[in-house]
Amino acid sequence: MSGTIEHFIDGLPKAELHLHIEGTLEPEMVFALAERNGLKLPYASIEALRAAYRFKDLQDFLNLYYQAAQVLVTERDFFDLTRAYLARAAADGVRHAEIFFDPQTHTKRGVPMAAVVDGIVAALAEAERERGLTSRLILCFLRDLDAADAMATLDAALPFRRHIAGVGLDSAEAGNPPAKFAEVFQRARALGFKGVAHAGEEGPAAYVTAALDDLGALRIDHGVRSIDDAALVERLARSQVPLTVCPLSNQYLRVTPDLSRHPLRELMAAGVLVTINSDDPAYFGGYVNANYRAVQKAFDLSRAELAGLARASFAASWLDAGAKAKRIAEVEAYAAAG
Ligand code: HPA
Ligand code: ZN
Repeated sequence: MSGTIEHFIDGLPKAELHLHIEGTLEPEMVFALAERNGLKLPYASIEALRAAYRFKDLQDFLNLYYQAAQVLVTERDFFDLTRAYLARAAADGVRHAEIFFDPQTHTKRGVPMAAVVDGIVAALAEAERERGLTSRLILCFLRDLDAADAMATLDAALPFRRHIAGVGLDSAEAGNPPAKFAEVFQRARALGFKGVAHAGEEGPAAYVTAALDDLGALRIDHGVRSIDDAALVERLARSQVPLTVCPLSNQYLRVTPDLSRHPLRELMAAGVLVTINSDDPAYFGGYVNANYRAVQKAFDLSRAELAGLARASFAASWLDAGAKAKRIAEVEAYAAAG
């Protein structure tokens, strides 16, 4: 065994499966894009904006996240944003990323769906070409808006369907149960999209069950509140429906009081397919490796356990079977080399 465990994490090949592209908007880029687009910000400086990154809860974070996203206007803005994320991800050993975007945040300001999707997709194609970093794109519906708005957004995305692997559900969870979007998800599935949903972040374990039963979700984003329902944990372990866990996000949004009390360890012990992700890394203290480092420290995870999490990230991805096997073999070879 040579090198530190941090060094081991840095080089570990991994997939990231829970990442909001709007959540990668760093304060420096907020200011640069505001200037480029002639927009005035309610913050005097980059430091003043960064100082506002102290959140009471999910809604408190979302208020700032939606406000900052208003600087994204042109296709080039979405390209630059995505490109900057992919460079950081590649530096963290990410070989494959499944990326959320929130079109309603942009289309309701008059930004065309084409500017959003074409900008993101151009950066994804460049990263695959130049870095071998593969990706999928997931369109998220904002659950605090109504189902009709989600349905209209699905329609507006159809001209871009070849670029979009699946649909997801994010934004304010409490009071917006999965059932509200059952029809939209059913239609999306009929059109060939896969489905995932945020559930059990601030909402109860029952929302995780509902995401599985009412939406047919293939993965649960967050899902940490599943720990409150033993039968659900059993079901997740048996079905191997993955949870995309975001430890630093949970800490910043006070979903868990501190990482040592995060349910990750218990979920792993129960045999649930958990993965480690960064959610909104510009807001929550770091990119995916910061999340691996934080849980390694909180739970004293071994190299074998860390490699297991990286293996799970590929197993839980939507790569085809051949690519999955190849990436998992890379993880095994890396772990064997120590
Ligand atoms: N939860 C819900 N909605 C979101 C999040 C999150 O963590 N990040 C961006 N939108
Ligand atoms: Zn999220």
